[in-house]
Amino acid sequence: MELASYEHEPATMGLHTLADYERRAREIISDSAWVYYDYGRERRWCLEDSVKAFSRYRIRSQVLQDVSKRSLATTVLGQPLKYPICIAPTALHTFAHRGAEKETIKGAEAAETLMVMSASSSFPMEDVAAAAPNSHRWMQIYPYVDQELTLSFIRRSESLGFKALVVTVDSPVRGLDSRISEAFSHPDLVNNPDARMAALEVDIPSSREALERGDHKLYEYVREMLYNPKSTWEYIRWIRSKTTLPVVCKGILTYESAQAAANAGVDGILVSAHGGRQLDGAPAPIDALAEVVDAVRGSDVEVYMDGGVRTGTDVFKALGRGARAVFVGRPILWGLACQGAEGVENVLSILRSQLSDVLGLSGCTSPNTIPEGTVVHESYYHRQPNRKRDKSKL
Ligand code: FNR
Ligand code: LAC
Repeated sequence: MELASYEHEPATMGLHTLADYERRAREIISDSAWVYYDYGRERRWCLEDSVKAFSRYRIRSQVLQDVSKRSLATTVLGQPLKYPICIAPTALHTFAHRGAEKETIKGAEAAETLMVMSASSSFPMEDVAAAAPNSHRWMQIYPYVDQELTLSFIRRSESLGFKALVVTVDSPVRGLDSRISEAFSHPDLVNNPDARMAALEVDIPSSREALERGDHKLYEYVREMLYNPKSTWEYIRWIRSKTTLPVVCKGILTYESAQAAANAGVDGILVSAHGGRQLDGAPAPIDALAEVVDAVRGSDVEVYMDGGVRTGTDVFKALGRGARAVFVGRPILWGLACQGAEGVENVLSILRSQLSDVLGLSGCTSPNTIPEGTVVHESYYHRQPNRKRDKSKL
């Protein structure tokens, strides 16, 4: 049974909401690192709309439902989760905290939730897994140009206790522009010895060659490998054929791609616009979620969402629109910058506690039993009065 929310509220010191963490983190994180973390492609429309779009949904709460026994527990890919809020993969945590991903994963372990480790991390997979051996962890990868690199990530994930592969498919070409190159040439970042692509330093010819030609931080190598304009669904089938680990496709926003992913044999889809860092014309993930859910309805494919989640109400709205769990990106970096592992735990704890309250206020007792039609687009309230109620139109 879920505890009353105040029982797992964190000790705050003025940090009560994720917005408080953002403000405090802005003071702590260097300007150049902030440019990287806060980056949004072109006019930042996708980034900003991903946050704002949640305000376009309303919760049709049901009253007097006895919400005294609430549980936030669920499962993802058959693994139990205490609550459906997880950590999205973000690169280079070293700009937020010296302990970087090792600290983040300790926070995830303490918060008893799932962390997806980014392939573009500042520390090797071995170090991160060892920092929190009991953590629930998945590994994010790309369909790299050199399939040997992909294979190396697959094998390391299997041997280091990562329970799924998250393949990010929204980056066939770069989304990061020259603002990022400029930020990365700032002494603050240049002089950080851990600001490197440590997880890509492996004993395969392409990685060795990159190091031999003097690409010590592997920045050039990561660009050559990560953006793979030739990748197709065949690549996902190939990954599928190389491992028994479940495969999640990250970065899908349409019905068509969701069906293609299901046909390629994936186990999960993470609806995501890469935090507004890739295609600025992409929809807010909360808007695209229902179409993806529709595309795989009736199959075993699980659907998750990330992008713009900043409160427990946002989490509830995503769950109500069909996500099994949500993932958060930047707020974890804010927590990490403010208080290390404890900050990561606190950010998650705030969301968890808010979600528990919203669940009760909506008349629901579990994330898996939110009735269809509970979370509606605001246009529902602009309909003509006296129109016959039709649930399928919600
Ligand atoms: C990301 N994201 C990302 N995604 C991915 O698949 N691999 C990666 O290495 C990264 N790196 C990365 C770095 C930074 C600084 C940010 C902010 C984001 C995208 C991330 O997984 C997620 O999709 C978004 O961050 C979700 O949006 P919010 O929660 O940040 O609004
Ligand atoms: C980013 C890449 C690393 O968005 O995914 O920063």
